[in-house]
Amino acid sequence: MQVHEVELTISAVKAEQYPATNYPEIALVGRSNVGKSSLTNVLINRKNYAHTSSQPGKTQTLNFYEVEHQLYFVDVPGYGYAKVSKKQREQFGKMIEHYLTEREQLRGVVQLIDGRHAPTEDDVMMYQWLTYYQIPTLVVATKIDKVKSSAYTKSISSITKGLGLDQSVPLVLFSTQTKRGAQEVWDWIEKQTGV
Ligand code: GTP
Ligand code: MG
Repeated sequence: MQVHEVELTISAVKAEQYPATNYPEIALVGRSNVGKSSLTNVLINRKNYAHTSSQPGKTQTLNFYEVEHQLYFVDVPGYGYAKVSKKQREQFGKMIEHYLTEREQLRGVVQLIDGRHAPTEDDVMMYQWLTYYQIPTLVVATKIDKVKSSAYTKSISSITKGLGLDQSVPLVLFSTQTKRGAQEVWDWIEKQTGV
């Protein structure tokens, strides 16, 4: 999809604030700093509409981006960020869990994994959790511009093995720098949402 119109409708902290539309929704989940907001920007064709930062913990609310009056991208706070207080982590966890399990408009989740490293325990837990709830998932390996092309196969197999990735779950190598993978991510989103 060629995106021209996008609007941050709401930065929500509770369910009552979620948009009241029936647009299909796609959520982006992953560790803090893995590149969720950066991927959102590439998908919506903007430079820094979704705020990014080299410091983890930037996104702290569920940010609903309305795209072309047809669907929402939901940029989610990252997990695995030690500096967030335990109480805040629990609050984030509850908010995200509630959204992912209760939201009828949710059509799929893009789970981002740092392409340079093996998945962390948190990544594995999140993937297993999505599988348990049978939420359609696309796995995206980020920052792939920092991986030599000769190591792509290694990166793919480390993510596949580390997560115990089901064969039916697609894996895309992505970079904000080269935009590699952006079209594949969009293709999957279009398939999931029917837009
Ligand atoms: P939180 O909001 O803290 O959960 O983080 P996030 O997952 O939204 O990460 P964000 O998009 O803010 O990106 C974190 C940092 O990684 C920023 O400095 C980005 O510029 C950088 N980054 C993201 N994607 C890529 C990529 O594909 N390649 C490179 N080289 N850097 C990237
Ligand atoms: Mg973010």
